[in-house]
Amino acid sequence: MYDQKMKEHVKAYEQQQKNLTALKKGGKSGKAAEEELKNRAQAKQNKLQKGKKTSAAIGDDNDEPPPELLQRIKQYSVKFVFPDPTKLNPPILGLHNVSFGYGNSLLFKNLDFGIDMESRVAIVGPNGVGKSTLLKLLYGKLEPTSGEVFRHRQVKIGWFDQHANEALNGEVSGIEYLSRKFQIDIQIARKNLGMTGLPGESHTVKIKDLSGGQKSRVALAELSLFAPDILILDEPTNNLDIESIHALAEAIRNFKGGVLMVTHDERLIRKTNCQLWVVENEKVIEIDGDFDDYRKEILDQLGETLATPHHD
Ligand SMILES: Nc1ncnc2c1ncn2[C@@H]1O[C@H](COP(=O)(O)OP(=O)(O)O)[C@@H](O)[C@H]1O
Ligand SMILES: [Mg+2]
Repeated sequence: MYDQKMKEHVKAYEQQQKNLTALKKGGKSGKAAEEELKNRAQAKQNKLQKGKKTSAAIGDDNDEPPPELLQRIKQYSVKFVFPDPTKLNPPILGLHNVSFGYGNSLLFKNLDFGIDMESRVAIVGPNGVGKSTLLKLLYGKLEPTSGEVFRHRQVKIGWFDQHANEALNGEVSGIEYLSRKFQIDIQIARKNLGMTGLPGESHTVKIKDLSGGQKSRVALAELSLFAPDILILDEPTNNLDIESIHALAEAIRNFKGGVLMVTHDERLIRKTNCQLWVVENEKVIEIDGDFDDYRKEILDQLGETLATPHHD
């Protein structure tokens, strides 16, 4: 989807620049040429709107904003990295004979599951099956009803989910927040915020006044500064814009530690070379075989619409 959108955008942008050049050659000033293109886009938009409203009453309301010219996308302006983790000897993180339920009914029964520094695991399964619960048991946000959790005494586990930005202190700026939390000077904080694609002028804005996507970038900068050995990500793409998803996928791909995530984002799974595991029958089961053999089955079960397969 990302690639497709990018391609479409680049194509449309190139066409726009060609048209601009043509108009300027025809004697128009840069500004007049831009106006002309905007007017053309407006005319096209009006026509589309009329088309949509054929059966409905045609009012004079124009609910779409006036068109703007396309901007060039700075494709690799964001280079987000996780520092190399400490080398730890296995075992790192595991559940042994774990059972867990919130009430009387069990979500997991006699479960054995673990990850190490080399793991690349994506957990899938229908809503409500217990994926988030599994991550919380491993991280230690929840205790099992019975069984044991093993956690390496030195392991640093980085957690990120769609609520990560709610945990930030909104009263201070990103720079203040990170420099206090990690005792680093403001240049380092600035660099890390920049790495996530947060524009410079937003570094000094109080976190509570940032947009949701921008807050998530602060949370990603925090995750990187925390320098985790293991990353646990619960549907990390939910609150991220397309550019951040791309940056996060790159960062995970280059990360040397273990990765465990819950996601249905095929692109992220492929890009990070994750093995698919599925929560099923109170267990977590590895899907052996090729991604393609199982993607249709799994995605069908999830009721997702299938896009054309694409490979890196
Ligand atoms: N704190 C809680 N108290 C009671 N039930 C919960 C709690 N958290 C989740 N559940 C229930 O446990 C089941 C599994 O939840 P969850 O692990 O969040 O599923 P998933 O992440 O796979 O969508 C769901 O039925 C959910 O409603
Ligand atoms: Mg969940």
